[in-house]
Formats: sequence, C-alpha cells, structure tokens
Amino acid sequence: MNAKSVAVVGATGAVGQEMLRVLEQRRFPVSRLRLLASPRSAGRPIRFGGTDLKVEALTAGSFAGIEVGLFSAGGAVSKEYAPIAAKAGAVVVDNTSAFRMDPQVPLVIPEVNARRIREHHGIIANPNCSTIQMVVVLNPIHLEARVKRVVVTTFQSVSGAGMRAEQELHDETIAVLQKREFRRAIFPCQIAFNAIPQIPQKAAFLPSGCTIEEMKMVQETMKIMEDDSIRVSATCVRVPVFRSHSESVNVETERNLTVERAREILRKAPGVEVVDDPAKEKYPTAVLAAGKDASYVGRLRQDTTIPNGLDMWIVSDNIRKGAALNAVQIAELL
Ligand code: A2P
Repeated sequence: MNAKSVAVVGATGAVGQEMLRVLEQRRFPVSRLRLLASPRSAGRPIRFGGTDLKVEALTAGSFAGIEVGLFSAGGAVSKEYAPIAAKAGAVVVDNTSAFRMDPQVPLVIPEVNARRIREHHGIIANPNCSTIQMVVVLNPIHLEARVKRVVVTTFQSVSGAGMRAEQELHDETIAVLQKREFRRAIFPCQIAFNAIPQIPQKAAFLPSGCTIEEMKMVQETMKIMEDDSIRVSATCVRVPVFRSHSESVNVETERNLTVERAREILRKAPGVEVVDDPAKEKYPTAVLAAGKDASYVGRLRQDTTIPNGLDMWIVSDNIRKGAALNAVQIAELL
C-alpha cells in the first residue's frame, strides 16, 4: 500500500482514540497524520507511532492535502465537514449516521459488501455498531438459508455514548455504593446497576414508539444485505457495561438450517468467531470480546416455535469492530 495522508476527526473521543490504536496495530501506511477535534482540545499532545502530535481545531481548511478522512465527531460535524473534506480530494469514512441512508453513499461492512466501496463519491458510511456485529453473523446464514425475519434485543455498553458516558457510569457506580447523591449529565436516569431501554439517551421516541437506534438496525440491515424483504424487529437497551455490545438474536430463515450446519458455516465466516460449547459453559461475553476484532457468536440453538428458527447470542467490541476497526478496514480497501 502507498502511504496515505490521514486526518482523524474526533481524535480525542472514544472512537477517535481507538482509530489511532487500530491504525498503529494494523500498520496502516500513514505518510502524514492530522488529529482534529473541537477548539477545546487544540494543542493537546497525543502519541502516535512513537511521536507526540498536537491536536488541531477542526476548520474548513483542515483537509488540504489529506487523502483519507476518518470521521467520528458526531453527526452535525460530519454533515458540515465531510462534504468539505471530499471536495478537497479526501475520501471520507464516516462513522456517524449522517450519510448512512443516502442512496449515493455506500454503507459498508468489508466482510459483507466490500464491493460497494468503489461506488463512492467521496464519502463512505460506517454502519451503526449494533448493526455491524449482527450483520457480520447474519450474512453467512442469509447466503445459506435466506434470512426472512430477525428479532433482536441489544445489551449495549456505555462506551457507545462516548467518553463522558463511560465516566458517568464509573462515577455513578461509586456514588451508589457509597450512598451519595449523584448529579448525572448524560443518561436520562440511573445507569449504574440499571438497564435503560432508550438509545440514543435523551433522543425523542419516533411516532411508531421505536427509538432511532432501533430504526438504524432495521434500515441499515436491509441496505447492507441488499434485501428489502428482511424484517428486523429491534429493542435496544443500554446496560452498565463499559465495553462491547451483546445481542440476543432470533433468526427465521426460508430454508431449514440445523444448529450444527449453522456452526459450521459461521466457523468459516470472515470476521466471526464461534464460542459455543454449552457443556463447558463456553459462550461469548462482553468482557471476552473487549479489545478484540471479531463478532463472537454462541448459545446457538433451534427455535422450535417456528419451522425454521435459530436463536443466538452475538457479542463484539462496539468501539473496535463496531466503529474504529470497520472504518480502518474500509480505508485499507480504498
Ligand atoms: P473534544 O474532545 O475536543 O470535545 P466522544 O464520542 O467520546 O464524546 O468524542 C467526541 C469527539 O468529537 C471528540 O474528539 C470531540 O472533541 C469531537 N468533537 C465534538 N464536537 C466537535 C466539533 N464541533 N468540532 C470538532 N470536533 C468535535
């Protein structure tokens, strides 16, 4: 690979920091790196490749000479600056939801639809974290037995809501244990020792009663798997876990698929690790998946209430495969 000039937008955030780690770990050939964030962080040193780089405040002029822009600073920042970066000649890999459902913008999971990358017009969207880990597992099942309907319930970690949310879980946990009063800023109600069925936190529910996160799982799954007939029913829940999302997934297929055959297919599937040995109490957990790259699947079993049904438990690091790693994989393919 020829070395590329790269800008990371949101470099001080939870995903931005992981993007830097993934670029280093995978030895992405970087000729020049610009770390961009809000003016609050300007001048802050961040170590990359053995040297200290200074964070710069994001401006319209930040992208001169930049070839790859990795964006993770929120939807509003992407809406404003991704087109500016693309116009300046960069290819943007955007981790926000700003462009995901735009028909002109490819929505890519490299293990599933890498071929769509070449259709970009300067912006490629990274799917939602909960969608990525589920679709990496669903796609091989779809190719074998055609997925008709999915019912998913998520158990999502606080890191998905950013670094301040991680801090809030930490501080509130201590406050609750010490029976102290706690003034929360991020979540609508107590997250410590609780489960909150509202993601994003504080965002209004849709007229249907669904949340925005739930609709992302519905719409993005159809777009990535290129099949509008796949029905997804999602319930998204924030839990007091720092890293990795877990998902209970019920899949109805057109053709019959035994548990043994599903395990066999998934063992060979790219980006998937099967951890499924009930006799030895082996199954994936959030702690097991944290810091790792794969989408882990276990607890595979037949759903005997329908003709062709499978139940499973899918776990992955939401900041890695759910965000930073998927974005860097796209950049590598570029
Ligand atoms: P900063 O640290 O300067 O606020 P997280 O999702 O972990 O909360 O991180 C959000 C990231 O987006 C941070 O790097 C944050 O920078 C960055 N960010 C937020 N608002 C802006 C903005 N208006 N311009 C540029 N970067 C922003």
